[in-house]
Amino acid sequence: MRRLLYFYNMTEQKAIGVFDSGYGGLTVLKALQQQMPDYDYLYLGDNARAPYGDKSFDAIYNYTLQAVQWFFTQGCDLVILACNTASAKALRNIQQKYLPLAAAGKRVLGVIRPTAEIIGNYTKTGSVGIVGTQGTVQSGSYLLEIEKFYPHIKVSQQACPMWVPLIENGEADEHGTDFYVKKYLDQLFVKDAAIDSLLLGCTHYPLLLKKIKQHLPQNIKVIEQGPLIAESLQQYLLNHPQMEKTISRNGQCSFFTTGDPEEFNHRAALFFGKEVSSKLAIL
Ligand code: DGL
Repeated sequence: MRRLLYFYNMTEQKAIGVFDSGYGGLTVLKALQQQMPDYDYLYLGDNARAPYGDKSFDAIYNYTLQAVQWFFTQGCDLVILACNTASAKALRNIQQKYLPLAAAGKRVLGVIRPTAEIIGNYTKTGSVGIVGTQGTVQSGSYLLEIEKFYPHIKVSQQACPMWVPLIENGEADEHGTDFYVKKYLDQLFVKDAAIDSLLLGCTHYPLLLKKIKQHLPQNIKVIEQGPLIAESLQQYLLNHPQMEKTISRNGQCSFFTTGDPEEFNHRAALFFGKEVSSKLAIL
């Protein structure tokens, strides 16, 4: 039995784990695959418990930790939380408290810091707007991180609690959604009319890109996270060759959901741009 296990581990794939509360992380995975097609990726959407945006700190920490532990059992040594809400509310404790004690050598990275590092390059007026979930906005994580890199930039945030439920329910292109897109954008621009760059601080929001652009003046830059995260991960792997060497390179992508795999396959194509075939994950 031990010998069988040994041989199993020898052939095991060491994919990069990509996690989101639901479908949103697929917009990040798509960019990762485009930029680094050789690596293997393992995607997990916690669809059974999505959305995370309105959940408590403790709930998001526990859900995210369970997901991270699941990735480790699947052989992933590197996990990307492709979810702003999980990055805002769970990442720090996972990195500082859980990993050093329970999984030294494994790494969990988020999406907020790499976004904060470069956001200042987009603005000319020095005013940046961020739209995100209630959890991300309330955590203040973006304000803290951006302040470290660009202390002179003015950052205004707007929680958009209706956007993820509309997207997850397949309403992104429907007329009724315009009301909520306009509503939150108007609320943001009341806070600062000088905003010239808008960060989509939730990995679901690229699905609303067309509508968001329709309700914004043309001169406002809209920043999507996928390409930024891909760029930053590529740099991370260059700087961490030991980790890079462990990742398997068969160009494969596997999909898991805690929800209904059929439903996942049906919706995921919208986010990922191609058909996917997912399996059920029990965390
Ligand atoms: N896609 C996630 C994010 O980037 C969270 C959406 C949710 O579950 O509320 O914040």
